[in-house]
Amino acid sequence: MVEVSSETRFLHAVEMGLGAWQWGDRMVWQFGQGYGEVEIRDAFNVSIAEGIGFIDTAETYGNGLSERMLGKFITETDQPVLIATKYFPYPWRLMNSSIPRALKNSLERIGAENVDLYQVHWPTPLMSVDSLMDGMTECVKQELTRTVGVSNFSQSRMLTAYSALARHNIPLASNQVHYSLLNRSAEKTGLLARCNELGIRLIAYSPLEQGLLSGKYGMDNRPPGTRARTLYGWLSKTEPLIKLMTVIGQDHGGKSNSQVALNWVICKGALPIPGAKNAEQAQENAGALGWKLTDDEVEKLDEASDQILSE
Ligand SMILES: NC(=O)c1ccc[n+]([C@@H]2O[C@H](COP(=O)([O-])OP(=O)(O)OC[C@H]3O[C@@H](n4cnc5c(N)ncnc54)[C@H](OP(=O)(O)O)[C@@H]3O)[C@@H](O)[C@H]2O)c1
Repeated sequence: MVEVSSETRFLHAVEMGLGAWQWGDRMVWQFGQGYGEVEIRDAFNVSIAEGIGFIDTAETYGNGLSERMLGKFITETDQPVLIATKYFPYPWRLMNSSIPRALKNSLERIGAENVDLYQVHWPTPLMSVDSLMDGMTECVKQELTRTVGVSNFSQSRMLTAYSALARHNIPLASNQVHYSLLNRSAEKTGLLARCNELGIRLIAYSPLEQGLLSGKYGMDNRPPGTRARTLYGWLSKTEPLIKLMTVIGQDHGGKSNSQVALNWVICKGALPIPGAKNAEQAQENAGALGWKLTDDEVEKLDEASDQILSE
């Protein structure tokens, strides 16, 4: 493994973060139905109290509401908070100069002078990776962000971004991708291994497979909203995996399925950023820290997940 650069080392010290897509999103997460700003503030405060101070937001989450809430919450705590946000390459905003401009708008919503990590949310065929990285470089030069990351980048795109930034002496800090017991592409394609080789932190989104790995959803208790459709295919398949997670959790003094799912991601060398809608979920997820699955348990979970993924 190469040595991690000093600029990005802080990210390798973060074991787990808190996702903020839920903060204001009505389409997938039904913000305003069963939870709102009060509950989100509680989730934030519990996480901070538990030492989870890395928050992942984006300009698109709740149309800016997520960044605004984060801005409010950070003024209410005296604890340090690491902020990650994202640039979305909308087709009407594809100039290099669009990127620092977008970040300035994010910073205004957050009420901060800079963020710790600025990520390209998705690659786009309309803008080359080199141009995207030129825009991100400008953000570093203007001291609007401490580090640069990408998200949803394949290995080859990530390597192009890595080299483009290296020409400006900027390390690529992270690649944020879908990674969970029910989505192992990062592992199977070699992306995770390549990240570890190059000192790029792999940030794992949807580590609970949007709540499914908590074990609370099944054929008799379908997830609400759009997840009823997007997660439907899994509902009849996951029972053996969930049962194994429960047994393994019990062997660790009663850890929950969610805690086992998150601990598995950490054992794989990635940084999970579970979303939480309230204090209870945030508290439970924080219990994924402070203990470790054994190698044998990780192997058993891998086998159970492989079985489902091969069906
Ligand atoms: N870069 C990208 O393209 C991208 C894409 C997706 C997500 N993300 C980031 O990754 C973060 C996490 O991913 P995600 O939100 O998709 O999914 P996730 O973290 O796998 O699932 C979060 C959802 O699971 C349920 N949940 C959380 N903790 C629970 C617990 N302890 N017990 C029971 N249920 C629990 C909650 O929903 P319910 O209570 O409604 O079930 C919560 O909203 C996002 O917030 C966002 O920051 C990034």
